[in-house]
Amino acid sequence: MCGIVGYIGPRDATPIILEGLKRLEYRGYDSAGIAVMANSHIEVRREPGKLIRLEEAIDADPISGHIGIGHTRWATHGKVTQVNAHPHIGMTGEVVVVHNGIVENFLELRAELEAEGVEFKSETDTETIVHLIERYLAAGKSLEEAARLSFHHLKGAQAIVTFSAAEPDHLVACRIGNAGGVAVGVGEDEMFIASDIPAILMHTRRVAFLENRQMVTITREGYRVQNLEGEESSLHATVLPYDPISAEKGEYKHFMQKEIFEQPRAITDTLRGRVDFAEGIVALEDMHLDREAVQGLSRLVTVACGTSYYSGLVGKALIENIARLPVEVAIGSEFRYADPLIDESMAVLAITQSGETVDTLAAMEEGRSKGARLWSIVNQIGSQAMRIADGYISMLAGPEIGVASTKAFTTSIVDQYLLACLLADLRESRPRAEVAELARDLARLPNLVGEVLDRDAEYQELATEFAHYENFLYLGRGLNYPIALEGALKLKEISYIHAEGYPAGEMKHGPIALIDENMPVLAICVQDHVYDKMISQVEQAHARGGIVIAVATEGDEYIATKADHVIYVPQTPPLLSPVVNVLPLQLFAYHIAVWRGADVDQPRNLAKSVTVE
Ligand code: AGP
Repeated sequence: MCGIVGYIGPRDATPIILEGLKRLEYRGYDSAGIAVMANSHIEVRREPGKLIRLEEAIDADPISGHIGIGHTRWATHGKVTQVNAHPHIGMTGEVVVVHNGIVENFLELRAELEAEGVEFKSETDTETIVHLIERYLAAGKSLEEAARLSFHHLKGAQAIVTFSAAEPDHLVACRIGNAGGVAVGVGEDEMFIASDIPAILMHTRRVAFLENRQMVTITREGYRVQNLEGEESSLHATVLPYDPISAEKGEYKHFMQKEIFEQPRAITDTLRGRVDFAEGIVALEDMHLDREAVQGLSRLVTVACGTSYYSGLVGKALIENIARLPVEVAIGSEFRYADPLIDESMAVLAITQSGETVDTLAAMEEGRSKGARLWSIVNQIGSQAMRIADGYISMLAGPEIGVASTKAFTTSIVDQYLLACLLADLRESRPRAEVAELARDLARLPNLVGEVLDRDAEYQELATEFAHYENFLYLGRGLNYPIALEGALKLKEISYIHAEGYPAGEMKHGPIALIDENMPVLAICVQDHVYDKMISQVEQAHARGGIVIAVATEGDEYIATKADHVIYVPQTPPLLSPVVNVLPLQLFAYHIAVWRGADVDQPRNLAKSVTVE
């Protein structure tokens, strides 16, 4: 996950920024950089690799000043090189930018700027931002106005901080969508800015969090806020609690809530360095795959538990559809005792957020003992499931503290989508152009996820209406059947309400007898190839007095004539819709649990990692 730190004040910015970046190291990165206004010009130091490399570069060639910005980066567009590292400085050397997020339309912006004579030095989407700002500065705009006008050109979710040598008494920052937070730290005659709380807590606890489409101009005395339309806006600083754990939650009540809202940034980070959006090509270095390695592959056997198992069910549909490779999905605790029919022509894929789930690890060993290749999709860096695998994909979701898994679930689905695209190319099981199209769809996902999260108030209101029920049925078909299972598990494990996920087509084989006014039905009814079937399920539930909440596609008015309540999600590329459709279910469960006073982050009887049988 990328980290941003900025400072303006009477002290030397360099050590403050470096220390702040160190506090964000847990998020993972592959390059780091800093830009400081030194005397009368901007000095930049950038290095691939860990912060120690950057510190050595600064020791060798010191820089200091009273305004500066720093960044730790997971490569997204472009490889891990010094020229691709942030901060990015423009052609004039007068403006510098650090950025979290994905500029979805960077290809067309780059072409437009190059046609104006701009020479790009890097392969990054970020560099388009600094050249846009330079374009408006050259037209006589102030940095604040140049930045604001530039931000309007960007599609996707972004968090951006910039300053210019011509106006070295202020920083300008903005937040568009959910590319991660932008926190403004208020000090005594000094100000801080960061993408996450730990970077500034040692200096101040007075913090203000930028809202979507807000832009802030920060001087050492304070800050001024406007929206991207240039209208005055407000931003209130709060004093964070002294308990570092509570402070870590920042603007959120629970870690689970924070982690739900981190998903656009987590998904952005999961994509970083793995998708060349220009060519539509996926690369997964840590999988060590090549054509030869996969040619003989007959089958993939996914093993996992709980939420990770449901992720594997989604992944089965993705990998079979995209890579045309047969996939079997097994529950870890069953697989390990089933004497499974596994041989060396197969690969066993373990999905495990903690990387330490005993049943999943045992299933991996079972697969190994029968000659299969071992792959894993893991969040916890350095965990066993990562270490013992022949190849792995990091979820890169950042630490997931809440026992109920949210961002690890969605990023593990994205990782399987990436694996499916890679396998399709290596096995030549799909035309290159089709795989490229599927890979490019990923660029839209963080913003689509952010759009759903922006409707949180609706989910909270609906949850309050349903929080007193003791039983729920969650229905889905196809790609959304595992999402129904996951939605039911979220509700069960944090609110202690009995909820059951079911394949909608199975209702008539028994469970429909359960339905009455005391058994609300949550049906995932988005406009896909089984929409009509889902509509008839909704009608059947209704006919038996059931109350139906439908998750539906934006603009679908017909569903509102059939369901009692409708939760709308944006139109999404079909194979990515499970990632979007699970979000309302996460928030529905979260708000019901909060309403019921449950311990959301540490539900009774549960552990974050089940390391015993
Ligand atoms: C998810 O919300 C639950 N906490 C649980 O089902 C979890 O997914 C399961 O224990 C597997 O954990 P893992 O992904 O760390 O292996």
